[in-house]
Amino acid sequence: MITGMTTDMATTKDILIRIEQDVDDQLFRQKNSGQKENQSMIRFQSILLLSAAITALIFTSCGADGNYTGREYMPDMAHSQAFEPYHEARKMTSFNGDTLPIFNGNHTHFKPVANTVPRGYMPYHLTDTPEGYEQSKALRNPYNGEQERLLAASIAAAKSGNKEKAKAAKSAYDNFLADAKEDYTTYCAVCHAGNGKGEGSIVKSGAYPTPRSYFDDDRLQLFEGQMFHSMHHGKNLMGSYSSQLSKEERWKVISYIRDMQAEHIAAANAKEFGGKPADYKNQALSAVINANTYTPGQPLGKLASLVDPNLEAVTFTKSALDAFADSAPKKGETIALNNVFFKSGSFDLRTESYIELDKLVSLMGRSKDMKIEVSGHTDSDGNPAANLKLSQNRAKAVYNYLSSQKVPQERMIFKGYGETKPVGDNSTDAGKAKNRRTEFKVL
Ligand code: HEC
Repeated sequence: MITGMTTDMATTKDILIRIEQDVDDQLFRQKNSGQKENQSMIRFQSILLLSAAITALIFTSCGADGNYTGREYMPDMAHSQAFEPYHEARKMTSFNGDTLPIFNGNHTHFKPVANTVPRGYMPYHLTDTPEGYEQSKALRNPYNGEQERLLAASIAAAKSGNKEKAKAAKSAYDNFLADAKEDYTTYCAVCHAGNGKGEGSIVKSGAYPTPRSYFDDDRLQLFEGQMFHSMHHGKNLMGSYSSQLSKEERWKVISYIRDMQAEHIAAANAKEFGGKPADYKNQALSAVINANTYTPGQPLGKLASLVDPNLEAVTFTKSALDAFADSAPKKGETIALNNVFFKSGSFDLRTESYIELDKLVSLMGRSKDMKIEVSGHTDSDGNPAANLKLSQNRAKAVYNYLSSQKVPQERMIFKGYGETKPVGDNSTDAGKAKNRRTEFKVL
């Protein structure tokens, strides 16, 4: 019965009906003729027929021509309805004989009705044009504040020496970035690489050109809105991620990229100016977040203030204290504290100064006999009496900080000299900048 049948000629349903009929016929004949000995033969034949049917079943379901997968006996056997919903589909019959809906143009599914929006959709108003890209600079990452706060807390806790507090604060920061890290690893790392340098797996395989490193100067200076815009619309060779990542997820991935960038700048600074990367990471983060305040070219460049984004950026220079990593300055020697910053016209010590002052704290810790005089100096602008007072207050602010870091007060004095001890020419800006300074002298 089955010999010579091709899979195209009969459906399995036909085959099964035929088997049933054949068995019935034989049993009927046997019953009538009373030939009981034929029973085992019939059973054998049925088994043969059944296995042939199964083979046919396999063939009909695998009658693939490359584009058409054949008959489907189970839901989603060959065609997942979840994927490629807008592609053309041939007529398909499901396992229980239902015909899958095929709409106009052979589509199994339609795009959403025009002017309707999916759940959770948030509109993005900027168009994929150079003007839209320019305007995107004004967009702000809603997670910036939280990221800066968590990072600052984590670094402060690490410095506090309280291990439990440090661990908790670090994991709070890590948790904040955990989902973003996963999204980045899923969607971005194949090209941009886990470390952000652009040597991802498909780039290494040669299938794709290298996207530039996130640490190139112009990438460090990208506005977050521009990143968001490029993730939404795609950028040249990079596709759009607007359907994979929600708006919130995109902003968080940007926070994650900013973290990598801050880590990179902080490491470069620690190498150039001494100290640990953690000493610089706060400022590095806020510098890249406010992309326009990061000055490329130098490892540190200008960094915006972490505490108060309205403050002017500060510029770090090489610390004179780095020369004393294994030695101590001699009695009578005067050393400039190059990276001590005050708010303009006031004696509020800026937090950026802690990096430099912590080096002095550690020097005092190592040289137990050393006593110092902290001194403040101004340029000649303004009233000499006011300058004297300001310089005294600034010296005192430094003294107070050192004292708060457990440098014994009996080993320190502070003094303001106003404009009386210039080291530069007060008629030029560069000279004045030199004169506004904080120093210490070994007594
Ligand atoms: C298939 C490879 C590929 C993947 C995957 C990819 N990118 Fe890119 N990306 C690129 C390339 C190439 C460029 C450079 C585009 C240009 O400037 O011409 C780029 C550029 C960028 C830029 C700079 C955009 C600008 O405005 O200059 C950012 C930011 C970025 N990608 C972020 C991401 C993020 C986030 C993801 C994951 C959600 C991602 N990319 C996934 C290839 C990729």
